[in-house]
Amino acid sequence: MTRPTLKIAMIGYAFMGVAHSQAWRNVHRFFPLDVTPEMAVLVGRNADAVAAAAATLGWAETATDWREVINRDDIDIVDICTPGDSHEAIAVAALAAGKHVLCEKPLANTLGQAERMTAAADKARADGVRSMVGFTYRRVPAIALMKQMIEQGAVGQVRHIRGHYLQDWIIDPEFPLVWRLQKDKAGSGALGDIGAHIIDLAQFVTGHQVTGVAAQTETFVTERPLEESVGGEAGLLAATGGSARGPVTVDDAAIVLARTDHGALATFEATRFATGRKNRIVLEVNGSAGSLAFNFEEMNYLEHYDLALGDRAGFTRIQVTEPTHPYVSAWWPPGHGLGYEHGFVNQARDFLAAIAADEDPTPSFADGTQVQRLLDAIETSAAAQAQWTPV
Ligand SMILES: NC(=O)c1ccc[n+]([C@@H]2O[C@H](COP(=O)([O-])OP(=O)(O)OC[C@H]3O[C@@H](n4cnc5c(N)ncnc54)[C@H](O)[C@@H]3O)[C@@H](O)[C@H]2O)c1
Repeated sequence: MTRPTLKIAMIGYAFMGVAHSQAWRNVHRFFPLDVTPEMAVLVGRNADAVAAAAATLGWAETATDWREVINRDDIDIVDICTPGDSHEAIAVAALAAGKHVLCEKPLANTLGQAERMTAAADKARADGVRSMVGFTYRRVPAIALMKQMIEQGAVGQVRHIRGHYLQDWIIDPEFPLVWRLQKDKAGSGALGDIGAHIIDLAQFVTGHQVTGVAAQTETFVTERPLEESVGGEAGLLAATGGSARGPVTVDDAAIVLARTDHGALATFEATRFATGRKNRIVLEVNGSAGSLAFNFEEMNYLEHYDLALGDRAGFTRIQVTEPTHPYVSAWWPPGHGLGYEHGFVNQARDFLAAIAADEDPTPSFADGTQVQRLLDAIETSAAAQAQWTPV
């Protein structure tokens, strides 16, 4: 029996476009699937640049107008890898056209946009059209194992959740005003870009939902050189600035205190000014029976402290490379390890498997909107001197 093919159109082809292309290229070569993805059309705004990217990344065709592409009868999936200012327009139109949608995080730039996207997703679901938001780190095996272990009681009752997402790529005040530093393009700064990930992960692994927040945000460098040479397709870090300057309109850092619906206290820290920290994602959960701790810089490991071991207790370093661990059996033998890109392949696997099974993939647009509601509450609290803000 031949497996049905799902033809994909992907919009945007820089950082996430490359990561997603690698996933679509490989997912069916590692995971057994009932469908085969086909990299049909790559969409960008510059015809020459998109043609060059398509040749490198392995897309069959290119186009410069996403509206035309999502209305093509032969396209099954629309993959949105653009900044947040275009997520709503593309996702809503694609869902209305009956295409399954994978949309990068954060789902949108504002809560209103996210709510409209969720309404469109709910409407499309009635016709079997699926949608998912790309909180990719859920697909790191150690994170997925952390969730399993918490569900199995490895930490008992959860009391503390601690999430840090630390980067330092804009500590140079002369680094240019790229789209991630502009509110109209990005929605928010470190908060929505990386804070959204740890908030999603914290709720994902514990099953708790944040019910209220008190937050502070800060913009340390308020003005930067305007972008002269766009890093764009080569990646944001390649951008260079000119002599003209413009205002930074997003946060550089956010610090959040929170409570959850199951009585836990949570703290979140998201910053692009953690000098020396390149992409450090720390997630710790302390409970009545033990603790679990993850650090993305050592993404193939998970630490577990089991209180029941008494005076022999200590943090055990679990090497999450066994075939019994989530996702790992599709990859390499024990001890061979996975990297950043595998999360995207695992994500593509989950999305395609849900479509093939006629089920809703997670995280849904509603999940993305719940995170957006928290981001909104955090900004409201920060604007009111960290006033307690129920969600
Ligand atoms: N899941 C993750 O871990 C993760 C990591 C990084 C970024 N992201 C998210 O992915 C999205 C894209 O981020 P990125 O880092 O790839 O950005 P990027 O700047 O590297 O790439 C953006 C791409 O979108 C294109 N683009 C911009 N506006 C467009 C428009 N209106 N129409 C068509 N194309 C347009 C650009 O030309 C470029 O190809 C963002 O929502 C970001 O938050 C997710």
